Amino acid sequence: MKRLVQTTINGEQYEVAVEPYRSLLDMLRVEIGLTGTKKGCDVGDCGACTVIMDGLPVNACLVLGVEADGAEIETIEGLAQITPDGYQLHPLQTSFLQHGAAQCGFCTPGMIMAAKALLAENPQPSEAEVRFAIAGNICRCTGFAKIVDAIMDVEG
Ligand code: FES
Ligand code: FES
Repeated sequence: MKRLVQTTINGEQYEVAVEPYRSLLDMLRVEIGLTGTKKGCDVGDCGACTVIMDGLPVNACLVLGVEADGAEIETIEGLAQITPDGYQLHPLQTSFLQHGAAQCGFCTPGMIMAAKALLAENPQPSEAEVRFAIAGNICRCTGFAKIVDAIMDVEG
């Protein structure tokens, strides 16, 4: 039997009916249609599903949707701002573009959300702190150096 979940996602209120066994990841992607958050492993190993929940980065595949009741969730869809001319990218998104830190892009939403949570706590992290913050996020394409550079060089 489904349960009603009231949650805030990217500043908007949602009321969603989900089965109690459904992950937050499936709630976001299937029930709400926010497919920017990616499903890689679905068991907590890859970080592709990273979102920010009440200020902390979490693997959305390891959180139940019902646990999001009353929570504030941030996903990759909340970063770019809509302007009269189109979109204004978040500085992290711009930095990833400038550094070539997104190749296939599958890990990128999770990487950016992990980085966003880090920078909110620590706006000028060392390279070691950046590498620690994204230690749970796997990229098969970039070799990580460009991602680390992008996070360290972000402006704004
Ligand atoms: S899909 Fe959640 S950690 Fe891989
Ligand atoms: S850019 Fe392809 S997995 Fe990271």
